[in-house]
Amino acid sequence: MYKIDIVSKKDGPVIDQRLHGQFIEFLGTCISDGIWVGEDSSIPNIHGIRKDVVDALARIAPPVVRWPGGCYADTYHWRNGIGGKAERPVTYNNNFGTQSLEYNHFGTHEFVEFCRLIGAEPWININMLSGTVAEMQDWAEYCNRESGTTLAKLREKNGSGEPFNVRYWGIGNESWAGGGNYTAKGYAGEYRKYASAFPRFGRGMPLPDSDEGMKLIAVGPDGNKPKERVQWTKGFFKALSKYRQPPIYGYDLHFYNWNVRHPADTVVKFSKEDWDRVIEGAQELEEVILEQYALVQEGLSLMPQPESSFMPVPACELIVGEWGNWHRFDPAAPSALWQQATMRDAVTTAITLDIFHRHSDKVAMACAAQTVNVLNSLILTQGENTILTPNFHVFEMYKPHRNATALACAVTEGNEGTVFAFASKKEGILYLNMVNTSYDEAVTVDMHFDCNLSYISGRRLEGEPADCNTVEHPEAVKPEDAPVPEGREENWSAILPKASVTVYQFQMI
Ligand code: AHR
Repeated sequence: MYKIDIVSKKDGPVIDQRLHGQFIEFLGTCISDGIWVGEDSSIPNIHGIRKDVVDALARIAPPVVRWPGGCYADTYHWRNGIGGKAERPVTYNNNFGTQSLEYNHFGTHEFVEFCRLIGAEPWININMLSGTVAEMQDWAEYCNRESGTTLAKLREKNGSGEPFNVRYWGIGNESWAGGGNYTAKGYAGEYRKYASAFPRFGRGMPLPDSDEGMKLIAVGPDGNKPKERVQWTKGFFKALSKYRQPPIYGYDLHFYNWNVRHPADTVVKFSKEDWDRVIEGAQELEEVILEQYALVQEGLSLMPQPESSFMPVPACELIVGEWGNWHRFDPAAPSALWQQATMRDAVTTAITLDIFHRHSDKVAMACAAQTVNVLNSLILTQGENTILTPNFHVFEMYKPHRNATALACAVTEGNEGTVFAFASKKEGILYLNMVNTSYDEAVTVDMHFDCNLSYISGRRLEGEPADCNTVEHPEAVKPEDAPVPEGREENWSAILPKASVTVYQFQMI
């Protein structure tokens, strides 16, 4: 028996919708085939962008999408991706074993159109490794300068008189590894240069808390390296605290739930032990967020107080720009880092979103890695077929939490680490989600609230632990209406099946 206590009368932070962000990269078939099929494809498309993928993503309307990488960003030259498609240079993509020609048909215009079609804001990651400061400046000018300059005119010639107004710009990617093997101090030096050189747009100064300033995002640590991540964050902020500070909006931590050391665990075939290990692994992110948030605050406290009002006030949001399960390489996968997604991945996706929601006062934005055909995907494509994974359904079921007020919600009785719950409220409706992470046992939960409620509706995703959606069975796992919980007013009770995610909506009376 489990007991969950939910306090509705004390408001927590508002859940930033950007915690439901996405990440797409020129890797495997994430973009080629997964998003971009080209205007001449027999697969229905909107100006070359896969229509079924657009339709699916528009349902969850990701608030933000990060592109073009990842590691690929450090090889990407934006000029290759503008102008007539036939004239665009053909490059070679060997990112994470992709091994294919890259025709550069999905460039800046196509990315911005994709974002608009699905209701997302673009986050562009610049090339800090093989690019230059000038290349970054030109890219920003091309995207955001309203009119008049040669680059603004070029954008107009290429189809967009209107500026793209891209606000989020990542300065480098994983600079502690493939992004340059920098030291934290060395990267901070580069960050200073790039951030200082970033063009100004709009009327105001690029203050971090001003909507008129660009939101520049620095490379945060490898969340999977307990020692290095502390050193990186301390080192970066220490270096940044010297003398004057460049503009900075965010600090991008990456965390993957690695599951590569167990040969018998094959993504779609695994034991209870494998299941438990992966479920536990996903929970580590909570500790990493708490640690890194504290380190960022400590780092900001080192900054000298500005001596003039034109200097930026030290502030910096914690962002998780890449997260997801990373299973062992599958030789049968149709493309690089292609992974099936089972109920195990859906449960860890739910746990991860719960962590973000619980700490929405500490994390501002997060991007699932990656949206289509790579790692913890929401969508898998195979030829003309498009499959929504159980992960997609979790994102859709959790959508009501966006911009809602987080509530205190604790599992106060029962085995630790089996049932997870999170609650929020918005416009008189209380949303409660519960995740039963048990591989093989249903559990009974008693829900106790501090206010009277009436039941509105509920959705549930459940299945056998390794259940997944395939071309043959695209709807093997899909949410259904949840059985109505028993109870009234402040006390309710329900049975949560094994390996399940449930979201209830109650009217607050
Ligand atoms: O998401 C796949 C890769 O993982 C990204 O390119 C890189 O940033 C990370 O190491």
